[in-house]
Amino acid sequence: MAEATKVFAISGSLRKGSFNRLVLKAAIELAPPGMSIDHYENLGDIPPYNDDVREKGYPPVVEDLRKRVKAADAILFVTPEYNYSVPGVLKNAIDWASRPPEPPLDSKPCAMMGASISLLGSARAQYHLRQMCVFLNMFPINRPEVMIAQAQNKFDAQGKLTDETARKLITDLLKNLAGWVQRLRK
Ligand code: FNR
Repeated sequence: MAEATKVFAISGSLRKGSFNRLVLKAAIELAPPGMSIDHYENLGDIPPYNDDVREKGYPPVVEDLRKRVKAADAILFVTPEYNYSVPGVLKNAIDWASRPPEPPLDSKPCAMMGASISLLGSARAQYHLRQMCVFLNMFPINRPEVMIAQAQNKFDAQGKLTDETARKLITDLLKNLAGWVQRLRK
């Protein structure tokens, strides 16, 4: 039987019709046996990071985020690209989840994917995210890179990801993530 892998997944777009949200939905559909994906839906409720607030105690919505990150075996980031980087709302959530005590993101395996309407499919945002992983002490998996370019052409009217190359890359990345988690458990 496949080993259980609990993944906490966060998409960096608050937009209702977000392509990245649809990519995350596709990931949930394509996850390998044994993998469960907890889709975080409260990104828009997280207050701007403030160290004075943190010192007084984490707000309940942040506490919930931190608890769910902590409970996960791995994190899946699905990020749009805003001005060649990750959206501020995603960075803000990462900032909250990176602070003591016991920073929940510390030592977590992670995978990333993203979609954009440009030709580079969120590549620059993902490389910024990889850079953040250095300070966070997270363990991002390298391959395959899932960068869905011209996202406006890759979904049907119901929001299903129809691009076979993208579906195969997502399938492979999640399979590799499950293996990565197992390797790091040893
Ligand atoms: C963008 N977009 C964008 N695209 C890109 O490839 N590189 C970029 O640097 C940017 N910058 C950017 C900044 C801001 C503020 C917005 C709102 C948009 C376009 C982006 O790829 C497009 O809006 C996607 O549809 C965003 O992802 P969601 O919301 O569909 O998931």
